[in-house]
Amino acid sequence: MLVLDCGGQYSQLIARRVRECRVYSELVGHTITPEAVRARNPYALVLSGGPSSVYSDDAPRVDPGLFELGIPTLGICYGAQLMALELGGRVDRTGVSEFGRTSMEVTESELLADTPPEQTVWMSHRDTVVAAPEGARVVASSPATPVAAFEAPERGLYGVQFHPEVVHTPHGMDVLKNFLYRAADAPPAWTPAAVIEEQVARIRAQVGHERVLCALSGGVDSAVAALLVHKAVGEQLTCVFVDHGLLRQDEAEQVVETFGEHFHVPLVHVQAQERFLALLDGVEEPEEKRKIIGREFIRVFEEEARKLSSQSGSDVRWLVQGTLYSDVIESGGTEGVAATIKSHHNVGGLPEDMKMRLVEPLRLLFKDEVRRVGEELGMPERMVWRQPFPGPGLAIRIIGAVTAERLEILRRADAVLQEEVRRADLYGELWQSFAVLPAVRSVGVQGDERTYGYPIVIRAVTSDDAMTADWARLPYDLVETISARIVNEIPGVNRVVLDVTSKPPATIEWE
Ligand code: XMP
Repeated sequence: MLVLDCGGQYSQLIARRVRECRVYSELVGHTITPEAVRARNPYALVLSGGPSSVYSDDAPRVDPGLFELGIPTLGICYGAQLMALELGGRVDRTGVSEFGRTSMEVTESELLADTPPEQTVWMSHRDTVVAAPEGARVVASSPATPVAAFEAPERGLYGVQFHPEVVHTPHGMDVLKNFLYRAADAPPAWTPAAVIEEQVARIRAQVGHERVLCALSGGVDSAVAALLVHKAVGEQLTCVFVDHGLLRQDEAEQVVETFGEHFHVPLVHVQAQERFLALLDGVEEPEEKRKIIGREFIRVFEEEARKLSSQSGSDVRWLVQGTLYSDVIESGGTEGVAATIKSHHNVGGLPEDMKMRLVEPLRLLFKDEVRRVGEELGMPERMVWRQPFPGPGLAIRIIGAVTAERLEILRRADAVLQEEVRRADLYGELWQSFAVLPAVRSVGVQGDERTYGYPIVIRAVTSDDAMTADWARLPYDLVETISARIVNEIPGVNRVVLDVTSKPPATIEWE
């Protein structure tokens, strides 16, 4: 299914919800031509919401030829208004806006079948459809919106003023399912197993018999990407895991054990701790740390690619990257889709003269879908549900200079925190939970003696996508256990504090 993005804040969410109904869905620009749509041969189209008024000069328009293709089409909010306008209905600036929870009355309808006659929906609009497109029936209305939903099933046209994709519309998923399964006859066939089968075939066709290299971080994205490629081309794949000395306690061993032994994926474990720590010596500025680590990572990686090329007698030409669909969208990589939010450089900014070509088997998936594919591939739960960990590692959780002594303190504090969070059965509920070591020291008293030691900050957040986050309300008993263990077990630490800041205004990491 194609979602034509008219600039709405929920466009991506529509694509996600449709995928949750097990129908593959992709975001495309609203300027897509009828020919391009026909070439994609979708089951259905959705016109998304958007911030514009259909009457403003710069309002996103769609080619009216799209409505002649015979492809079932659902307009949502602005998309419904656009349909009304193009197809002989009327849209007015009524002066009555509706934002938030709204009560809606429903008459007999295909789109709203098996949902209550009176229900709550989420509205967010200023303009309103006051006359449905020619030949379409009005099937729902709210106090301020005479045409809250319309449909012309024989022509495959449907429009809703409310947002079925948000959780605040309790029957929203029913509406999407009615549209997909009944109106568009799209089978719920897009499953993790189907994704694996498709990607494996695609990877085989792409790389043929050539050698492929994958940089493993230990995180779920690169791990799933590696497993897919391994399933496709087996021994042609070599994974490289660079230990930059900024990993958490026992992390390198766990990664090597899981991949090297559990999955039988050929793995090169590069011990590069000393060179990274030498380069970071005395560096305090956060961005400087990030740049040094990113640059050195690529150097190590290129060295390994060269070694492998000379060993195998042929150039290693393919590089696997765990780029996700959200990265592609946010980097503006999908033509005409929304605004470019930020650019992602997955492997820390690949040098331009790097001649390797990219294999990106997760390019069409969201993070939760990657996790489901990982489960289907038999990846251990601990790895599938691992919390994200930043590429520059503990270096950006040590404020100020990174030294071996401070790394050791943070590693031990973090290990205590992880252990207790897991023991309290909260690991899976938190987006991230970790320890931070600030650059200050404070006075304490331990064993009748004055101490002058470091504090440890407990940082735990909940989030859906790391774009925004809230500080997690950890139970005080758990906080107390973590605090007591950290000050008792780790020399040099005499104080534990809790970070109670959301994002924004803070970020999740401290640097
Ligand atoms: P912030 O601190 O910006 O982090 O709120 C958002 C999410 O991104 C992770 N993060 C990184 N991940 N390389 C990564 O692979 C990085 O340089 C990096 N910086 C932050 C962070 O852990 C959080 O999940």
